[in-house]
Amino acid sequence: MRIAILNGPNLNLLGKREPHIYGTMDFEAFLETLKKQYPEVEFEYRQSNSEGEMINNLQTWNGKVDGIILNGAAFTHTSIALGDAVAAIHTPVVEVHISNVYKRENFRKSSYVSAHASGVIVGFGLRGYELAVQCLLEQPI
Ligand code: DQA
Repeated sequence: MRIAILNGPNLNLLGKREPHIYGTMDFEAFLETLKKQYPEVEFEYRQSNSEGEMINNLQTWNGKVDGIILNGAAFTHTSIALGDAVAAIHTPVVEVHISNVYKRENFRKSSYVSAHASGVIVGFGLRGYELAVQCLLEQPI
């Protein structure tokens, strides 16, 4: 099973960025725990602050991995192109947000990605990525 994780803009600052919202753990450290927890899974991980690069990653992974976990960060709410990219590929995509976007500003309540994702996990912190892995493993979608 190959699972790719794609994090969008500013998520390279996890651990330092608004820790009251996003927690104090950086993603690389979290990924190590995830790899130990799921030794049977081959993980690929990319973070990008660039919309085009994220779209290129999705297109490259299409058909080459069994599932993609996508936190589009702010591009979720702004990028028709990111939503189109998810719609265009056939590999299942699970959308994850660390914070509960529905408890925050109104602009965070809309997503160009959700309508094309297999499912959405919101508000459970980094644990959301683990839940997404479980969903992809237990019920390939
Ligand atoms: C986020 C929520 C987005 O609204 C925000 O722009 C992010 C992170 C989350 O994981 O909670 O950068 O996607």
